[in-house]
Amino acid sequence: MTKIKSHELKTDFLVVGSGIAGLSFALRAAELGEVVIVTKKRDFESNTNYAQGGIASVISSEDSFDDHYRDTIKAGGDLGKQEIVKGVVQEGPECIQDLISWGVQFTKTHDKEFALGREGGHSKRRIIHAADLTGREIEHSLLQALKANPRVTMLEDHVAIDLITQHHLANRYFVPWEKTTCWGVYALDSKADQVCAILAKATLLATGGAGQVYLHTTNPQIATGDGICMAYRAGAEIANLEFVQFHPTTLYQTEQKKRSFLISEAVRGEGASLRTKDGKRFMPNYHPMEELAPRDVVARAIDQEMKRRGELHIWLDVTHLSKKNLQERFPHIYSHCLMQGIDISKEFIPVVPAAHYMCGGIVTDLNGQTSIRSLYASGEVTHTGLHGANRLASNSLLEAVVFSKRAFQQLASDPAILDVEFPEIPPWDDTGVVRSEESVLISHDRHSVRRLMWDYVGIVRTNRRLERARSRMAFLRRDITEFYRTTRLTPELIELRNLVIVADLTIRCALMRKESRGLHYNADYTERDDKHWLRDMVVRSSQL
Ligand code: FAD
Ligand code: SIN
Repeated sequence: MTKIKSHELKTDFLVVGSGIAGLSFALRAAELGEVVIVTKKRDFESNTNYAQGGIASVISSEDSFDDHYRDTIKAGGDLGKQEIVKGVVQEGPECIQDLISWGVQFTKTHDKEFALGREGGHSKRRIIHAADLTGREIEHSLLQALKANPRVTMLEDHVAIDLITQHHLANRYFVPWEKTTCWGVYALDSKADQVCAILAKATLLATGGAGQVYLHTTNPQIATGDGICMAYRAGAEIANLEFVQFHPTTLYQTEQKKRSFLISEAVRGEGASLRTKDGKRFMPNYHPMEELAPRDVVARAIDQEMKRRGELHIWLDVTHLSKKNLQERFPHIYSHCLMQGIDISKEFIPVVPAAHYMCGGIVTDLNGQTSIRSLYASGEVTHTGLHGANRLASNSLLEAVVFSKRAFQQLASDPAILDVEFPEIPPWDDTGVVRSEESVLISHDRHSVRRLMWDYVGIVRTNRRLERARSRMAFLRRDITEFYRTTRLTPELIELRNLVIVADLTIRCALMRKESRGLHYNADYTERDDKHWLRDMVVRSSQL
């Protein structure tokens, strides 16, 4: 068995991930020093690139920070942290201006004002967008701005494997109570088949979410929870993974796709209604905000209607809008559905819920600092306290851009940040690796993890289902851990190891919370219980 080669690279700031969180941080950090971005596929491949609806921010004179604050706290089942929510909504408008200064063009009205959309749980129109391709506009504009910056190096096809901490240092006297410090990451350069140690004075994890842990998801293939698992293995605090958001409306298709196509909530914001097969609306029976109720409520209502009627999907009706309106406001959704044979100006759209967003993640303070020294995190990978038990629509792009700015400001305020001396880091050690595995074994295990999560840890949970998921996932985790230890590294193997860990941690958090709140609905405890559970579910590795 030939060994994987190893080499070393040093920089001031290391950013893992090239979505909105990573790119916006890198643009700022380049003012302070050299920046390296590692990203596991092509630079644009991220959840950010697929965002449709837009970014929530108080722009209109009819809106207020108090309203945005109240909507966020309410949608989050009162679990959001008040100080964080206040700060994020207040810093929103300035961060939107920063995006514009980097070249992002948002849709405007004929009067040259920002066109504001509406989405579930929002009491006001406050979603700034670029038609229904907001994410693509942001991703490509930020990448463009970075390309002009000589202090930033982008390493595509580099998969971060693990954080480098003092536990890796050779011949070191180990002090057990010492705070863990991050010195960068080991990453697999998948084109060169080589592992490099990338050392940095500060590292930002911006690896996004974990939607791929479910069989049906709006998330692209990159969303495998890598950042959460790297931080977990290094001993960071992880919280609230039980709050997985299922988007109510993705296009129902008979063939299994790699990614479910999203039908943006903004479509309901423009008056679309949800209907059963017989054409009847059902949301008025579930919530006073009807189709624009918070996402957890709408997804559960759809799930219930589908189960009650034994139907495979429900319908979304947007036929009240003209073809011209639809083509202008939702060009991407209109043309995608047309390619699938559905003219949405005349026909109803068959829709089902799918896993969409991970509300929990790496615990950070209000500046994006994790519980590990020199390790920051921003974006979907985090648990900052903004979302509580259910993220308000379009608050995640906002959270990412605000926390990346705060992390930068925190670093910029430390005059000694660039004086750090690097320790001697040992090269990648692949002792124990005895085989290259057939990739089909990896894809089978990936499917098993995703199927198990979909079947037992979905929109409606029960203790029995969660217990069954726990014992089966524990078995898979043991098996995959051993397999990982003895098998030559590939990107797929790295992802599989992370998927099974993030699945296991999600089940653990779900079993810990013995109530129903926001996105976590357990039919064995149907009520919210503030006396016992108005708190976060924190998990931490004990294996350091
Ligand atoms: P991402 O954009 O997901 O970027 C993560 C990056 O990390 C990627 O570049 C990935 O390749 C890289 N990466 C991951 N693991 C590794 C590794 N091991 N090594 C190296 N690189 C790695 N939110 C809104 O606020 N408004 C919306 O309208 C909206 N619409 C959405 C529509 C869809 C279809 C989806 C999927 C999500 C939507 N969201 C929306 C959610 C939002 O897009 C994401 O939460 C947000 O973009 C996350 O940004 P991020 O920078 O944290 O992560
Ligand atoms: C959407 O466009 O419906 C997605 C918005 C979000 O996830 O915030």
